[in-house]
Amino acid sequence: MKVREAALGSEDLRALLADVSAHALAYRTAASTRPHCPARDYQELRAAFNQPTPERGAHARAVIAELAALAEPGLANIIGPRFYGWVMGASHETGVAADWLVSAWGQNVGNAHATPAASACEEAVTCWLLDLLDLPRESSVGFVSGATLANFTCLAAARGEVLRRVGWDVEADGLFGAPPVHVVLGEEAHSTIFSGLRYLGLGAKRVLSVPSDDQGRMRPDAFKRTIEKLEGPVIAIAQAGHINAGSFDAFPEIAEAAHAKGAWLHVDGAFGLWARACPDRAHLARGLELADSWGVDGHKWLQTPYDSAYAIVRNAEAHRRAMLIAASYLPAGEDRHPADYTPELSRRARGFATWATIKAMGREGIAEMVSRHCAIARGIAERLSAAPDVAVLNDVVLNQVAVCLGPEMDVAKADALTARTIARIQREGVVFVGGAHWRGRQIIRISVCSMNTTEADVGASADAILSAWRAERDA
Ligand SMILES: Cc1ncc(COP(=O)(O)O)c(C=O)c1O
Repeated sequence: MKVREAALGSEDLRALLADVSAHALAYRTAASTRPHCPARDYQELRAAFNQPTPERGAHARAVIAELAALAEPGLANIIGPRFYGWVMGASHETGVAADWLVSAWGQNVGNAHATPAASACEEAVTCWLLDLLDLPRESSVGFVSGATLANFTCLAAARGEVLRRVGWDVEADGLFGAPPVHVVLGEEAHSTIFSGLRYLGLGAKRVLSVPSDDQGRMRPDAFKRTIEKLEGPVIAIAQAGHINAGSFDAFPEIAEAAHAKGAWLHVDGAFGLWARACPDRAHLARGLELADSWGVDGHKWLQTPYDSAYAIVRNAEAHRRAMLIAASYLPAGEDRHPADYTPELSRRARGFATWATIKAMGREGIAEMVSRHCAIARGIAERLSAAPDVAVLNDVVLNQVAVCLGPEMDVAKADALTARTIARIQREGVVFVGGAHWRGRQIIRISVCSMNTTEADVGASADAILSAWRAERDA
């Protein structure tokens, strides 16, 4: 019995890659006209994928054809021009092409000895990122899967360093018996910050939570009062780009108060950090360079394919101490080993896709896109707030718009209508928006983050949202 397919011959391989290329081409070229919501829901997809474990191998081309046929009806059109759900980039085609090569090369990037090209590429991209984001050039960068892991990695470095300064080696001795570490953050910190604190044994609930203002910014006076009272190791966490409002904390004041106390200041800048790469938005993130670490995504505003994010740490030694993976079978030495800066040993060579995306867009392309997205967000906000029973709750300084429908209505009624309006908008597929609870209301969240969105989408987006709202309101 034949139990294993031999490797494909070159003709079969050529045909297989041509099939993949044809699928990708058809998918991507239809993105501007395809509805933004998936055609089928989760239960339908579950049923479709529910097959018995394969007993015999199948031909590669048949496998890929079946995968595409099964999956495509359940894909959201995230690369479409009017996909405003969550904060999602559109997977730049050059980055995607680079990622195909990465898969074909089959590299495991943990160690520079095994994959010198991947390691050297990450080192070069480190310099580009620090330049584009204008962060301290001595910082180290870990190439991780998302901002969740970027924040986690930075906070691990923070935990190690603030404890080391009081004579405790957390990497060796853990947290049992360690001096307590105070964590100070804004009450509207992103939920994944709390995940990182949980993973690090710092606890999601034992934080000191600082009140925020009506834009979700941590109040600097309250931050100062909170941190002044503390004794011992302190980690402070600020935010660049609030998930609903796109607002920025007051970094100069926060950094001054944090450093007066010897605290480590971390900034969650999952998407907002990219304001620094855009001359007409950089003022929003002024003073952020004074922090000690920064988490930022590539797969959001930089448009790299998933998954891609960067853990940036000013104190490279603290970063390395927190993440170092050493074993006698792993070559050490002077070279930069990517696994020394991330929580993973074996992983994908993420640096290549970032390299290719930055190369394709250039500093000017990134700045133009960020500026354009912010102008589009303002344009949509203006169109929506011109309607008599629609309000925009945030100052639209970045790419986020928080929309309140029926601001004068009874709150429970308006919230229920808003939830129905979101479902209708998603179903109709012209645009895709998400929702959230913010400032006591159910809101529509609009995140302009796709490289394929242009000024021409402003009118169609606002019209689709308003017509869905009227249909639900008048039903
Ligand atoms: C401010 C902020 N922090 C962290 C995250 C988590 O990022 P990721 O999903 O890439 O892990 C997000 C995601 O939207 C975010 O907006």
